[in-house]
Amino acid sequence: MPQNLTALIEQCVREIPDYPKPGVMFKDITPLLADPKAFAAVVEAVAGAYEPSAVDYVIGLEARGFILAAPVALELAAGFVPIRKAGKLPARTFRESYDLEYGTATIEMHTDAIAPGSRVLIVDDVLATGGTGRAAVELVRRAGGTVVGFSVLMELAFLKGREKLSDVELRTLTTV
Ligand code: PRP
Repeated sequence: MPQNLTALIEQCVREIPDYPKPGVMFKDITPLLADPKAFAAVVEAVAGAYEPSAVDYVIGLEARGFILAAPVALELAAGFVPIRKAGKLPARTFRESYDLEYGTATIEMHTDAIAPGSRVLIVDDVLATGGTGRAAVELVRRAGGTVVGFSVLMELAFLKGREKLSDVELRTLTTV
């Protein structure tokens, strides 16, 4: 990873203490998105790691993952597919639930979103506990797809999300 890209991301992602609850240091990517050079550099770095011919679909994880995954999909001339929080997709879906600190969360993908055998790149902004990412990988596999990569802008290493994604090729632009 070029040193200047890491520095650019660190400069453009701001930390908001005690959001959404006390004790959490929230990583806010909105300043990065508002900077066209930084946004473009991130999209290029994510997309540039893959041959366009090797990716059929780029999947974005609601909501911030959508923002990064859509331009990456265009860059790779691949389709864009959303994985959404429960109840947001209109047609038949596969559903996967995962544990949160308190309770569970559920995400969904349309059953016909990808053809069996499709090669899929999953893109998100932050990897934290890995629960969302793990569930996303399972959704792709239930649809018969192959996860050729999982790319995130930022990995929060202390939450050990990487351990839940040990069977996919994980790429992170920055680790904190
Ligand atoms: C955040 C982030 C990832 C997920 C990572 O999304 O964008 O998708 O959490 O957390 P995990 O690794 O612990 O599962 P969030 O659910 O806050 O949704 P948002 O993008 O709609 O704000």
